[in-house]
Amino acid sequence: MSAPQQPNEQWTEMQSRQPAGSPEAVGAAAKGGSRSVWSEYRTFVRRALREPSTVGAVIPSSPVLAREMARVVPTSDHPVVVELGPGTGALSGAVAERLPAAGRHIAVELDTGMVEHLRTSMPWLEVIQGDAQQLGQLLTEAGVQSVDAVVSGLPWSLFAGDSQTRILEEVGGVLVPGGAFTTIAYAHALGMPGARSFRRRLGRAFDEVVTTRTVWRNLPPARTYVCRRPSRSG
Ligand SMILES: C[S@@+](CC[C@H](N)C(=O)[O-])C[C@H]1O[C@@H](n2cnc3c(N)ncnc32)[C@H](O)[C@@H]1O
Repeated sequence: MSAPQQPNEQWTEMQSRQPAGSPEAVGAAAKGGSRSVWSEYRTFVRRALREPSTVGAVIPSSPVLAREMARVVPTSDHPVVVELGPGTGALSGAVAERLPAAGRHIAVELDTGMVEHLRTSMPWLEVIQGDAQQLGQLLTEAGVQSVDAVVSGLPWSLFAGDSQTRILEEVGGVLVPGGAFTTIAYAHALGMPGARSFRRRLGRAFDEVVTTRTVWRNLPPARTYVCRRPSRSG
């Protein structure tokens, strides 16, 4: 585990007002004090229309998918968790719900509009504006040497193959032994050439890649890949 760092205090305070695991608790996490679902949707759609080649979706992930993804988040000690491409924070509440109070929750987001939205609506989230391709350097600048889990909402289908490889190498380079990386795989696209080549790339980047059950309550329905043990040979 990484050294104790910035406690997730604001989330702990919110959590204490709601029964853990209740829909209200997840909602509270998502709200982060000032966030509303409509504001999230408005921002997401506006940014998706303005920057379609960066955002890569027209609707945020559902709370059910968010909870599935957050399973990789350790629930004890003081883990460091990184979200890549958090967008408006659809996955962030579920991550925060599992993260112990002494944990650190860092989000790396490229889009300025999304970054502004996150900083306003989720002030407890540590947001770094930057490119996931520079993950190692961004984390070093933030004083982080290693990470216990990486949760990705990145739009892989928009990236060239070498960018995908670069990001996966960066993730592998920061994960602690025993750490996990998870990302979304849209069920309808699994057989498509781009998705198949990404899956092969994951297989080269990690010794273990597990595909989870389909989450039907998401638009579109999705599975997740859970990857462990970065392959050091590349
Ligand atoms: C499809 S949205 C996912 C948002 C959210 N995680 C969800 O599941 O609803 C993808 C997000 O990744 C961000 N993004 C795209 N390329 C990125 C990059 N190279 N580094 C960091 N974030 C990136 C986009 O700006 C967008 O917010």
